[in-house]
Amino acid sequence: MILPGSYVRDLLKSAPGTAVTARGWVKTRRDGKNVHFIQLNDGSSPTDLQVVVDEGLVPAEVIAHITTGACLSVKGELVASPGKGQAVELKAQSLEVHGAASPEDYPLQKKKHNLETLRPLGHLRGRTNTFGAVFRVRNVLARAIHKFFQDRGFLYIHTPVISSSDAEGAGSMFQVTGLDLEGLHKAPDFGQDFFGRRTFLTVSGQLEAEILALAFANVYTFGPTFRAENSNTPRHLAEFYMIEPEMAFCDLNDDQDLAEAFLKSLVEQVIAECRPDLEFLSKWYEPDLFKSLEGVLAGGFERISYTEAIHLLQKSGRNWEFPTDWGSDLQSEHERYLTEELIKKPVIVTNYPKQIKAFYMRGNDDGKTVAAMDVLVPHIGEIIGGSQREERHDVLQSRIREHAAMGMKEESYWWYLELRKFGGVEHAGFGMGFERMMMYLTGMKNIRDVIPFPRTPGNAEF
Ligand code: 4AD
Ligand code: MG
Repeated sequence: MILPGSYVRDLLKSAPGTAVTARGWVKTRRDGKNVHFIQLNDGSSPTDLQVVVDEGLVPAEVIAHITTGACLSVKGELVASPGKGQAVELKAQSLEVHGAASPEDYPLQKKKHNLETLRPLGHLRGRTNTFGAVFRVRNVLARAIHKFFQDRGFLYIHTPVISSSDAEGAGSMFQVTGLDLEGLHKAPDFGQDFFGRRTFLTVSGQLEAEILALAFANVYTFGPTFRAENSNTPRHLAEFYMIEPEMAFCDLNDDQDLAEAFLKSLVEQVIAECRPDLEFLSKWYEPDLFKSLEGVLAGGFERISYTEAIHLLQKSGRNWEFPTDWGSDLQSEHERYLTEELIKKPVIVTNYPKQIKAFYMRGNDDGKTVAAMDVLVPHIGEIIGGSQREERHDVLQSRIREHAAMGMKEESYWWYLELRKFGGVEHAGFGMGFERMMMYLTGMKNIRDVIPFPRTPGNAEF
């Protein structure tokens, strides 16, 4: 096992003269006169460690096995590197090839691969420079999220993955069953199923997070969520991670303030910790990456109501594919126009018509809108969706009853209603798509390239 201090990242920062063992996978091998140069990496650093092997140190047939993708351990001494781009290199004293990777078969030979050809290579693409950078950013982002909430006293909670309620009312859930469906000729009896009822993979931990927010005031979840919507787009996954803070004593304004502080903090932390990786990604994939990220940090987010957003779209002079009359949901083309072209920075849109939003959102006094908010950012569109929750028992009950025709059962939400009877208080929260944030931070254009093993319609390999 590689111990702290021995990752390639650490070796690159160690002093010349240090005796070390480096382990990792070969990026490339180059042969000079009487000497071989190996670029080695264990995934810890955007810069490879250069290993220098003198001719004759190991037999020629061993050298022949040191090709792109092979796995090695090298013992030796760090010496000052005459080459550019690194302070030290490793002068090999002994070397072991753990696993070769035949150049005839190994698909990741040294050249720039396009991201689409790498997608079916989910078992290998983590070794490329691009996915090295992306997955290191992913790790730092996860930690930054915990740090943000932990620093503010939020309690990290786990909400169930298997659920019997449809939090978003969108009806796009994967069913979970222990029944043997093979050869079934009639509708399955879910009363006989594992849980004695129909269950699904959760689309959101929000409703359970609300329970705990009314016990711990400030809580957050960070877990997998599942949506069976058949949207084969560059921004949708069937399995994605969502971060959902939920706060008691919180209204829609506080909710917006927190969302804005959250995004800014994540951008700041990731820039501070991952600059070399972001520079690599910017160079190859998104020249404007830093400009766009620094745009989040500069100044406040624009805040407009849905009604204002509709006016702006109507007077844009554009030919929209989707309708822009009051009451229509904002589509990706509308969201991106607002944030990317018109306002040119993150925008929070609030107070949407109640027909297009979930049942739990707090009704506004106008009787037509709810206290919803969506945070839109350039290149992505919606990155956060949230709201103040309906805390008035009777109003919530009639909202649930209005949804009965769409299959919502009041009795299934007994506990959600009881929370409004026992010590209820105004509360609010939001959900941020982890992979949407990853796209924003890395400049990757397809959500399949920011998660190690994407699940999308027709694809569950690995
Ligand atoms: O807007 P959504 O559907 O909101 C909720 O689920 C609320 N229960 C959140 C809350 O208030 N606690 O989803 C939240 C975010 C979206 O803004 C988007 O970033 C992301 O989750 N998201 C997806 N990301 C990838 N693939 C999908 N299919 C996604 N659907 C939503
Ligand atoms: Mg949403």
